[in-house]
Amino acid sequence: MKITTTVAETRALVRELRAGKRTVGLVPTMGALHAGHLSLVRAARAGCDAVAVSIFVNPTQFGPNEDFTRYPRTWEADCALLEQEHVDLLFAPSAAEVYPVGASTFIEVAGVSDRLDGASRPGHFRGVATVVAKLFHIIAPNKAYFGQKDAVQVAVLRKMVRNLNFDLELVVCPIVRDPDGLALSSRNRYLTSEERKRALVLSRALRWVEDGAARGTMDAGQLIRGALAVCSEEPDVRVDYCKVVDPDTLEDVSDISAGALAAIAAFVGTTRLIDNVLLPSSANR
Ligand code: PAJ
Repeated sequence: MKITTTVAETRALVRELRAGKRTVGLVPTMGALHAGHLSLVRAARAGCDAVAVSIFVNPTQFGPNEDFTRYPRTWEADCALLEQEHVDLLFAPSAAEVYPVGASTFIEVAGVSDRLDGASRPGHFRGVATVVAKLFHIIAPNKAYFGQKDAVQVAVLRKMVRNLNFDLELVVCPIVRDPDGLALSSRNRYLTSEERKRALVLSRALRWVEDGAARGTMDAGQLIRGALAVCSEEPDVRVDYCKVVDPDTLEDVSDISAGALAAIAAFVGTTRLIDNVLLPSSANR
């Protein structure tokens, strides 16, 4: 695995990887890697000739009162995991390399960026869209891999790719969970063992929604009320939002017959966790 820290050396290496018409898959991450990240790396391995991973804790996507400084950084362990997956290129730039003094161009995907997590985290998706657009320009991958875990991020980036004519395929991979249902997240490291038990209420609430939908409940309001009732079993978990929306526009839907995204965000202690489930259209059920 080659490790690069500058844009220039990354471009040179990508050019080498691409020689002989090899396709390049990109997996953007912020490190603190877990099995969810590795599922994306494996999908890229299966779908492309060469795999590039980026590790960059992107300051522009953190709000002033968020966890940028204490975000987990596990460089040595991350490198070992990526070596095992036979990753070709690891791009790990500094903040100054990505945002040189005077950088003042940002990407705003209007509409979707203000919904769900975007409503709770103003400016977050402007930072995400900007850094991902830069990674797309630097690496110019044929395919880029993202997790369904961050459903709003997927909606924002899909729209950005369409609107700005990025010449790549965005591949979305399913959520990887622990056996007890908790969606893997770098932020799970913040949880005490008590909090981790409480955090299971998120996936439990979503499973309730999934089961309700499978049994024929099409009324979004009814599904949300049920999910909130499940959440109230854990009074110390503070729900930020619990919504049933169109997965592309992220607008509320009242009926899920045509398919929908059920998404939840909640604070467990001071840690904000998210989870979601895609509800198939009744035609595919
Ligand atoms: P990060 O949180 O490190 O996640 C990197 C990728 O891993 C994202 O596409 C995310 O959806 C995916 N992922 C995380 N947990 C997952 C799980 N349990 N199952 C499947 N995939 C999972 O998302 C970001 O970084 C950043 O916003 C980034 C896109 C790198 C831009 O800075």
